[in-house]
Amino acid sequence: MKKTILSLQKQKENQEKITMITAYEYSAAKLLDSLGVDIILVGDSLGMVVLGHKDTLSVRVKDIIYHSLAVSRGVSNAFIIADLPFASYQSVKKAVKNSAKILKKGRANAVKLEGGLEYIPQIKALSEAGIPVMAHLGLMPQYVNLLGGYKVQGKDENSAQRILQEALEAQKAGAFALLLECVPSKLAKKITQEAKIPVIGIGAGKDCDGQVLVWQDVIGLNTEFKPKFVKVFANTAEGLRQYLSEVKRENSQLMSIAFKGLKCKLLKK
Ligand code: KIV
Repeated sequence: MKKTILSLQKQKENQEKITMITAYEYSAAKLLDSLGVDIILVGDSLGMVVLGHKDTLSVRVKDIIYHSLAVSRGVSNAFIIADLPFASYQSVKKAVKNSAKILKKGRANAVKLEGGLEYIPQIKALSEAGIPVMAHLGLMPQYVNLLGGYKVQGKDENSAQRILQEALEAQKAGAFALLLECVPSKLAKKITQEAKIPVIGIGAGKDCDGQVLVWQDVIGLNTEFKPKFVKVFANTAEGLRQYLSEVKRENSQLMSIAFKGLKCKLLKK
């Protein structure tokens, strides 16, 4: 059955964990959908893991639309959330225009934006325009230049209090869900308990309503950057190593058969 914001809300109420993973193309989305994943995120992480940029800032609305559309072709049931890329939602007008494009052309079911209190007007306008929006709080990779790196957020009392306030304000403005990235597990637990909407975590401990990971991290494709919370569940390198060595082995077996054949022919002469 198709996942919706209502079914995700029900999962929170029934304390049934929500599974979420990124995907950027058809075959990964189709596999994940067939396995019953609840949410597929077309994250702007694609700038790094698919396009090879050093951060997510170069991703454009049209990149998100292109990848979201490919994902949507592989999906029957999962709920698709697509990221609003950096600088595509500074004004309310821009946020609504670009989000509508992402839903219409990219066939996503919702958008996600990185931003705290400054983006409450955008969250309100989007939900009033009929566009479900998830608020991404804590470590916001689009702010890497302001933050001076990818660091855990909300470690001291003041910043923890601010993230809690942002979560509750985003909920009040109409966000259907929250994403918490790299915050202490104690803070994530408190926000998950206080929020009525689903809270998905990444590097935020086990007590959120659900967890998200990046596809490339899960299948061990990301060899350059490995955050502490990442666990490789399917070792692609191991499988590929096996493939390469089988090809080499078969090749040398074939060569030795061919060599034996040639030797026989020569002896007969
Ligand atoms: O862009 C992305 O993939 C994300 C996840 C890290 C949550 O926002």
